[in-house]
Amino acid sequence: MALLAVNDLKKYFGGLHAVDGVSVQVQEGDLVGLIGPNGSGKTTLLNMLSGHLHPDSGNITLDGRDVLGLGPAGFTRRGILRMFQLTRVFNRMCAFDNLIACGLALGMKEHAAYERAGQLLDELELTRVMYLDAGQLSGGQRKLLEFGCCFMTTPRIALLDEPFAAVHPVMRKTMSAFVRRRNEAGQTFVLVSHDMQTIVDLCPRSVCLNAGKVLAAGETKQILQSPAVIEAYLGGDTTHEAHHD
Ligand SMILES: Nc1ncnc2c1ncn2[C@@H]1O[C@H](COP(=O)(O)OP(=O)(O)OP(=O)(O)O)[C@@H](O)[C@H]1O
Ligand SMILES: [Mg+2]
Repeated sequence: MALLAVNDLKKYFGGLHAVDGVSVQVQEGDLVGLIGPNGSGKTTLLNMLSGHLHPDSGNITLDGRDVLGLGPAGFTRRGILRMFQLTRVFNRMCAFDNLIACGLALGMKEHAAYERAGQLLDELELTRVMYLDAGQLSGGQRKLLEFGCCFMTTPRIALLDEPFAAVHPVMRKTMSAFVRRRNEAGQTFVLVSHDMQTIVDLCPRSVCLNAGKVLAAGETKQILQSPAVIEAYLGGDTTHEAHHD
């Protein structure tokens, strides 16, 4: 049975079909790339997979159980964790306290949270800046910190929305090494990224959306060579205004 199964999911904003009948399955241990041009529905899909947005129709199951209608806290309790395209951390708290606050909110005991936060700071190379307010960190460091927040406990599935965008290449490496290590240890991921090299390097399998529909799904290298995917990326889609990250 799939860990996460999405069946014929739809979300319309007025007349705009942001997600238009998407079906996707994610198996335990998968590291699935979710790609597609700007405005193709990736973030909207993740918003529904994390309970931040309610679909107009379709269903989502985790371990075969319906999770629709649970809301973000309910999804988090079931182990679906979400990293946002725009970084969300507490700017006036130091990096260390951000991690502790997340750990406690996720139900960890205090000493376990301290220990875990220390390990994550080390692993994400943030120990040096752990007592600086998150607001004083660089954009990349803040992303790494938000990353850490998602992993204070071990999620069943981690949904990452463009974690590498506008991140310094050195930190990008730290982040992708982290994802690879966790995946090798069994962690399931869905990774949205416009960084095709990273998608190829990390994700054996990908799903490509275009105008709210699945354009292609399967082995990443094959998908990226598919004429339909190439055309979608080269500006075949004129229904949505393109912008660059
Ligand atoms: N809350 C909203 N209200 C109205 N339209 C929305 C809303 N959220 C998203 N959209 C529209 O839905 C479409 C899909 O947007 P979405 O953010 O899911 O795309 P994306 O694939 O994540 O794009 P990007 O790669 O630029 O992040 C876009 O046309 C967008 O303008
Ligand atoms: Mg997006």
